Amino acid sequence: MHVAQKVAIVTGGGGGIGSALARKLAAAGAKVVVTDLDATGLDEIVRGDADHPGAALAVQADVSDDAQIASVIETAEKAFGPVDLYFANAGVAAGDELESDDAVWDLALDVNVRAHIRAARRLIPGWIERGEGYFVSTASAAGLLTQIGSAPYSVTKHAAVGFAEWLSVTYGDKGVRVSCLCPMGVNTKLLTDDAALSATAARAVTTAGSVLEPSEVAECVLAAMEAEQFLILPHPEVLEMYRHKGADYDRWIRGMRRYQASLLAQPS
Ligand SMILES: NC(=O)c1ccc[n+]([C@@H]2O[C@H](COP(=O)([O-])OP(=O)(O)OC[C@H]3O[C@@H](n4cnc5c(N)ncnc54)[C@H](O)[C@@H]3O)[C@@H](O)[C@H]2O)c1
Repeated sequence: MHVAQKVAIVTGGGGGIGSALARKLAAAGAKVVVTDLDATGLDEIVRGDADHPGAALAVQADVSDDAQIASVIETAEKAFGPVDLYFANAGVAAGDELESDDAVWDLALDVNVRAHIRAARRLIPGWIERGEGYFVSTASAAGLLTQIGSAPYSVTKHAAVGFAEWLSVTYGDKGVRVSCLCPMGVNTKLLTDDAALSATAARAVTTAGSVLEPSEVAECVLAAMEAEQFLILPHPEVLEMYRHKGADYDRWIRGMRRYQASLLAQPS
């Protein structure tokens, strides 16, 4: 699918991968509603869009709240028309290890999974009617492999992959396109802020492969959308890791334990 002239919503667009996506979409001729819990970066995206005035609109919203998701969709429809592309990109790296506090699990489930389900519930009926629509889920390589050092992140990203997969199987023949973005390290707050991923989890990501820039990831997303490709792997080696996991699960788990032990043995 070409994105020019399409109406897009990008969640978690105040920074990182989301803001890079919003900029690339606007540059490619899409009308973009960019939304985030944290309004700080939003206006800059709208203002920075000098070459495409009026192509982007900023809305502060919390995707863990169903009513706010509905309101963002409504705002986009009023400003630009029916939504064609939805980027469920907002994410939290809540928690490390097993987490005894249910509130941490709830936050990860709400933002990383339920937000995708809630948006899809609102958009899919219209997309089926129109025979067209594109849902792009930002999951993670952690959703195909695992996230050393964070059970909530690992589990919710697996769920995001599972939901995207299910959407594609169920509605693909009705014109609904779905892609699932599964990067390893990307140079954003989520990876670099001490308050986000735990030190072990962040080290697991940065040691496993190169850390890409958000703009490189956004480039991969737009290319994959043109090709209507389900799995988006900005780090191609993730495919090889995923194949190893599928080929011999027990061997893969033993390898991951060894990898974790090596990370824990490093001075912090
Ligand atoms: N950075 C990485 O290494 C990496 C790797 C794989 C996947 N991801 C995923 O990419 C996505 C984007 O993250 P990023 O790396 O750009 O980090 P980021 O922290 O820059 O962006 C995440 C954005 O989501 C927003 N957000 C958090 N909770 C929200 C809520 N309740 N409502 C609305 N917005 C909310 C944050 O304010 C933030 O702007 C996330 O889903 C993340 O899990 C990141």
